[in-house]
Amino acid sequence: MINVDGSLNVYKTKGKVDNLCEFCNDKDVSGTVGIAHTRWATHGEPSARNAHPHFSQSHNLAIIHNGIIENYADIKQRLMGKGVKFVSDTDTEVLVQLIEYIMVSKNLSLQEAVPLALYQVIGAYAIAVLDKRAPRQIVAARKQSPLVVGIGDGEFFLGSDASPIIEYTDKVVYLEDGNIAFIRLNERQEGGESDDSGMELKVTSILGEEQKLQVNTVDFDLGQIEKGGYPHFMLKEIFEQPDCLTNCMRGRVNVEADHVTLSALIDYRRQLLNAKRVIIVACGTSWHAGLIGKQLIETFCRIPVEVEYASEFRYRNPVVNKDDVVIAISQSGETADTLAAVQLAKERGAFIYGICNAIGSSIPRATHTGTYIHVGPEIGVASTKAFTGQVTVLTMFALALAEAKGTLDRDEYLKVVKGLSEIPDKIREVLKTNDHVADLARTFTYAHNFLYLGRGFSYPVALEGALKLKEISYIHAEGYPAAEMKHGPIALIDSDMPVVVVATHDAMYEKVLSNIQEIKARKGRVIALVTQGDDTIARIADEVIELPDVMECLEPLVATIPLQLLSYHVAVCKGKDVDQPRNLAKSVTVE
Ligand code: F6R
Repeated sequence: MINVDGSLNVYKTKGKVDNLCEFCNDKDVSGTVGIAHTRWATHGEPSARNAHPHFSQSHNLAIIHNGIIENYADIKQRLMGKGVKFVSDTDTEVLVQLIEYIMVSKNLSLQEAVPLALYQVIGAYAIAVLDKRAPRQIVAARKQSPLVVGIGDGEFFLGSDASPIIEYTDKVVYLEDGNIAFIRLNERQEGGESDDSGMELKVTSILGEEQKLQVNTVDFDLGQIEKGGYPHFMLKEIFEQPDCLTNCMRGRVNVEADHVTLSALIDYRRQLLNAKRVIIVACGTSWHAGLIGKQLIETFCRIPVEVEYASEFRYRNPVVNKDDVVIAISQSGETADTLAAVQLAKERGAFIYGICNAIGSSIPRATHTGTYIHVGPEIGVASTKAFTGQVTVLTMFALALAEAKGTLDRDEYLKVVKGLSEIPDKIREVLKTNDHVADLARTFTYAHNFLYLGRGFSYPVALEGALKLKEISYIHAEGYPAAEMKHGPIALIDSDMPVVVVATHDAMYEKVLSNIQEIKARKGRVIALVTQGDDTIARIADEVIELPDVMECLEPLVATIPLQLLSYHVAVCKGKDVDQPRNLAKSVTVE
């Protein structure tokens, strides 16, 4: 925090934000402008020394930074050659030292020097910089890392997304790539001589052209980012899935449950209808949703679909044609790799359709059209409701496109739409297994490895179950198509190995049943997800979790739920930090 007298107070702690709050209890945190940062270590270990803010050599400038400065080593070398001394291992310190070097050598203000420094930088950043000699201003900028300015009553806020800001204001400006924001508190106001807010926000491009401000109103309320009586956000978010999916379908699946309308398909009918191929780009859990989307679109629309890790796609000179439709899936809308994949595909002439949750975030803004999943802000780092929201949108997309193309039998179409509209109630039923899953989790907390198996629509569910478990309980887990087990993973099976098998009544039931027998023959411990009333598997498996009967293509929406609960309860039993697992971030804005 900087005070008007130019005094600068800096507090840093290692670990959780709560530690910092406690540490600051008896400290002076007053001031006119302040910056704060939680660091996701890219350069240098997590420690107070490497924590932000970083300072320029004179200690006049302080900076916080999300992202990576790729050419930091070159710049550092150059500055060291000019006598600049560094105290941390971070790329961030290099940037603030560069800003100061430009200010001093060219006799410029902070506002003038920041664009010149950024001009020399290769990489991604969202930064906020203070100068303690100018205690009424803050300079912020973004490139490939999100940054939002909140406009309050006589105050401004900066955040990497809107959720920390909505407690204070619902008016936000989303900065575009290459934008620099100058926020200033006018001196007049401090003397009490002005009755206006006395604050000023100006946004320019890196070349100094003033940008028109577009002020957006954020429409989620505080309740959505509170725990509402649940011990963790993750559990709350698992339990709110029935309501979230109802919201996701509202206005899209009609009340008679016999028709799906997506505005993107009305506005961009020609581009979507003429697609020769669909390429889905995403990361992590969103990539798993993409695998389900592939099966839905191929089955209903008879268009070939490829599913790519965005991080691979962006760097391998992919073949992208003008009649390709690229679907980008991202909860946060800010994932750096997915955004870069979108930009690449767009440059190559593809039509881009986005499936995102965070309204106004970078990916929806970069796409030609899209559909928001509308499941409300997801706070738990491990994605739950966003996944089922993405799968719901993909189902609606495939149905709407199939209807427009005439590729799906009318009766089948009606059956799926009806089935989809009933999913929230089916999930309510599955959530009743929570206590049973919690008991089961206690039994398996000992395990160091887990295998997850599924086939067809259940294969991505197995991948997602395994990812969820490893993310929050730190137990190694692998997902496999069940039939692949005999090609390698079967070697791992012994009496210590829990194997979660999605074995519901679908086209592959008999085959998956054989896989279960193979596991049992090697003394593996089977936790099977079965369709209600399945006695056959109940007799062989060690544990069963029953699921309501749904159409095979809708099964991921119900089968995912007990796997979310299982990973949640295992992590709780192991005493892990469920909502903020180690080393993970909610928005992965670095590549
Ligand atoms: C897993 C998880 C991550 C994200 C991935 C992509 O629980 O949350 O794997 O799915 O980082 O993030 P988004 O969807 O924001 O692009």
